[in-house]
Amino acid sequence: MTVPTHSIYDLLARRVPGHSLEQPFYTSPAIYELDLEHIFYKEWLYAVPACQLAKTGSYVTMRVGAYEVVIVRGRDGEIRAFHNSCRHRGSLICKARQGQVAKLVCPYHQWTYELDGKLIWANDMGPDFDASKHGLKPVSLRNLEDLIYICLSETPPDFETFAELARPYLAIHDLKDAKVAYTSTIVEKGNWKLVWENNRECYHCSSNHPALCRSFPLDPNVAGVSPDGSISDVLQAHFDRCEAAGAPAQFRIAGDGQYRLARMPLQEKAMSYTLDGKAAVNKNLGRVALPDAGTLLKFHYPSTWNHFLPDHSLTFRVTPISPMETEVTTTWLVHKDAVEGVDYDLKRLTEVWIATNDEDREIIETNQQGILSPAYVPGPYSPIQESGVVQFVEWYATWLERSLTPMRQAAE
Ligand code: FES
Ligand SMILES: [Fe+2]
Repeated sequence: MTVPTHSIYDLLARRVPGHSLEQPFYTSPAIYELDLEHIFYKEWLYAVPACQLAKTGSYVTMRVGAYEVVIVRGRDGEIRAFHNSCRHRGSLICKARQGQVAKLVCPYHQWTYELDGKLIWANDMGPDFDASKHGLKPVSLRNLEDLIYICLSETPPDFETFAELARPYLAIHDLKDAKVAYTSTIVEKGNWKLVWENNRECYHCSSNHPALCRSFPLDPNVAGVSPDGSISDVLQAHFDRCEAAGAPAQFRIAGDGQYRLARMPLQEKAMSYTLDGKAAVNKNLGRVALPDAGTLLKFHYPSTWNHFLPDHSLTFRVTPISPMETEVTTTWLVHKDAVEGVDYDLKRLTEVWIATNDEDREIIETNQQGILSPAYVPGPYSPIQESGVVQFVEWYATWLERSLTPMRQAAE
């Protein structure tokens, strides 16, 4: 279903707070384009952990909507991002998801770029050709404690306010010492907002996530913050214990709700996301002294949620690929000196979240199918179990409305 641009204002205006969105928000190509243009093309997006670009010339590519991006480590050790489109006739330069190169060479006519984006070779372009005007177009990039973020906008919004808040929480996890133990990329046949809505509640966990429920607490008093923002005594006691042990833990959320950090407890006695609750890795990534400090939960709309545990870390990246398809990439990070088969067993490390992701994929796809029915009408979120979803939807609707205001004013 397509939605004329003018009616998006009506849809936003008649939205019932505390309820799921109307069908077009989850199905319409027109609203999908608005989501890309006003959110994904404007905001800072999590890309990869820096350790995935460990060597000179290591690169990864990613697609965000219509944009193709390559992120590469230069000879000077700096990580940079470029539009993955040749300055000759526009071909993709790097086709693989990741790799390592000495130079960035276009496969079409072999224009050759240095790892810092400068064009250094272009055959037979004539005496008037100015190579210095044909370097790769840069994409803004920030390295936050070895988490790489990019922004496609030519006028990126402020990153530092978020970075300042997040830095002390992340620093203790020493991601500079990490290596990628495993990466999984799945495509979920659901709108990107359904992926987020599902992530922001555990109302579905007891009946869908048998493996995760061994370690993740279901009680919203333990697993979350009440809708009124209050924190239970149990949770506050956990924050205090972690902070006394030097691990920042207090619940912090941005004023507009775009990001949040909090070190949340796992089930009693659980130390990691394993079936027996014991650590998955013998050699810890980071310096969290309390083995039962739980999981530092960080979300940052629209692109990422993360879990940082005392023994390992997990990053999740959410990339919309069509109105009803979303790519989710999960990366398991362990200490670079941890040896597979000695310090950790890969199956044991990854099995809980591989199963959980697949279970989430299934419920998101089923949710999307039901929403496609003409009989679908927005339903109420549970005030006890789904306050996180309410928070996400409020953030989204407010963000889109604010972004669209200049367009509306121009049209009036
Ligand atoms: S399009 Fe890249 S060299 Fe021609
Ligand atoms: Fe889930």
